[in-house]
Amino acid sequence: MKKTVALLCVTLVAVWGCQPPDCDRKDCGTCGNACCSLTFHFDGVTSESAYNKITTSLQNGGADERYRYIGGVDMRTYNNTASFILQGVHMTYVHRYNDTLNFVLTDDMKPSIHPLGTTLHAFSISQIAGAYCDDGQNYKNLVRFVKGLNMKYTETTVAGCPKPT
Ligand SMILES: *[C@@H]1O[C@H](CO)[C@@H](O)[C@H](O)[C@H]1NC(C)=O
Ligand SMILES: *[C@@H]1O[C@H](CO)[C@@H](O)[C@H](O)[C@H]1NC(C)=O
Repeated sequence: MKKTVALLCVTLVAVWGCQPPDCDRKDCGTCGNACCSLTFHFDGVTSESAYNKITTSLQNGGADERYRYIGGVDMRTYNNTASFILQGVHMTYVHRYNDTLNFVLTDDMKPSIHPLGTTLHAFSISQIAGAYCDDGQNYKNLVRFVKGLNMKYTETTVAGCPKPT
């Protein structure tokens, strides 16, 4: 019996097994599945240059070669608050679980100074059914990707993936 429990624990760690660092922001069911919603602000960068960097990075596999580009749209002609919208996927190292990444880029609206900056609204959600907790993977998906862009940023939590207390 004890052996069964021990084996089960090992299996569960292997299933989730977020690879440190940045695995300390676990989410349990915020979106009816594990997810994480953050914003990153880039100073002195246009949404267009951020969009090009993000697109290229996703197309090249991102920070760990396991990010994938799904699509992106230039929204600027639609007179919307969003300048660009993007989607990608990250596949985990263990078990090849896929998480969907959604991005919206908005320009800061201060015409007196140009370019002032860009905000990246970044969201990650586990694809597998019943991913109640995620071992911190959705937070890691976002922060690892943004760190890989080599752009100075400030980060804000919007929903899910709480800081450990
Ligand atoms: C764009 O949106 C703004 C604010 O809603 C509006 O004032 C403006 O007329 C719109 N421009 C066009 C070309 O639709
Ligand atoms: C994740 O996506 C890859 C590429 O499309 C696929 O090969 C793999 O089977 C997917 N993983 C799961 C668990 O569905």
